[in-house]
Amino acid sequence: MSIAARAKGLTKIYGSGSAVVTALDNVDFEVTQGEFTAIMGPSGSGKSTLMHLLAALDTPTEGEVWIGDTAVGSLADTPLTVLRRDRIGFIFQAFNLVPTLTARENIVLPLAIAGRAVDDAWFDKVIDTLALGDRLTHKPSELSGGQQQRVACARALMNRPDIVFGDEPTGNLDSTSAAEVLGFLRRSVDEFGQTVVMVTHDAHAASYADRAVFLSDGRIVDELRGANQEDLLSAMARIYPRHDADPAAGPPTEDANPADSATPAGEVTPASDAGPAVYRDGGQAPTHPGEPQGDEPTVERSLARRAALD
Ligand SMILES: Nc1ncnc2c1ncn2[C@@H]1O[C@H](COP(=O)(O)OP(=O)(O)O)[C@@H](O)[C@H]1O
Ligand SMILES: [Mg+2]
Repeated sequence: MSIAARAKGLTKIYGSGSAVVTALDNVDFEVTQGEFTAIMGPSGSGKSTLMHLLAALDTPTEGEVWIGDTAVGSLADTPLTVLRRDRIGFIFQAFNLVPTLTARENIVLPLAIAGRAVDDAWFDKVIDTLALGDRLTHKPSELSGGQQQRVACARALMNRPDIVFGDEPTGNLDSTSAAEVLGFLRRSVDEFGQTVVMVTHDAHAASYADRAVFLSDGRIVDELRGANQEDLLSAMARIYPRHDADPAAGPPTEDANPADSATPAGEVTPASDAGPAVYRDGGQAPTHPGEPQGDEPTVERSLARRAALD
């Protein structure tokens, strides 16, 4: 099995002086090609930071990331943009669709921005797998949350990326819609050979993965393969005893967004990441007062790019 992405000695430190936060602490990590990996841990354990660094959305304080054989840190801006655009797909908790575009237009937007043709056979296959065929002319506001996230999944797969990254992709979904999205991610691995890395604090979501790695205070502290939900819950109870088997049940903390300044080409920024929300029962994740809701700046950016193409 080849390695789709690799991190060595990855450290990310935010702030300075007494406000310093070591979000990631000397992490070594490999993502195997054709596998579904879940990155688990309580709120604030460094999941999003690790994912954003692996996805070349942010730069480490120390250490190095490779996507395939490409050392991300050695890339200048333009090849870095091309790498994000061509080799990586993103699915975010907040869907991040452009509200004024139809589902179809959203799905092909990254290709349109890159000036590329749509591979019709691939488009049809992805749409068929996601059962979106009768929704393509709808705007996001005319779609359920689950349908919107399926559109975001299709968008992430359109350029046949080396790796699809999802940061709590089912965090805003009811349990039925979450199961559809997770089932699709699973199928994309099994049927398309897709490599998927998903951040989640939820044992049910992680049970769809081949492998779960557990973060605590910025370090990888454990790993399970082929675990079912029960295995994952008992591992979590063992690894995070103070969280009483449910990392999400910890006290809410500020979930800052380390990727604010980095926008992959043709993609939208993960402007909100409501990590600490508790939604085990499929309830809507509460949003944080004052937290950016994500769509505004990213939509403007996407549309500005699109306009620049016309
Ligand atoms: N932009 C930032 N500025 C300062 N601290 C941050 C920033 N982003 C994340 N952090 C801090 O880094 C730690 C890890 O955050 P994060 O990776 O978002 O964790 P998780 O996704 O597991 O909830 C937390 O303590 C968080 O508050
Ligand atoms: Mg997070």
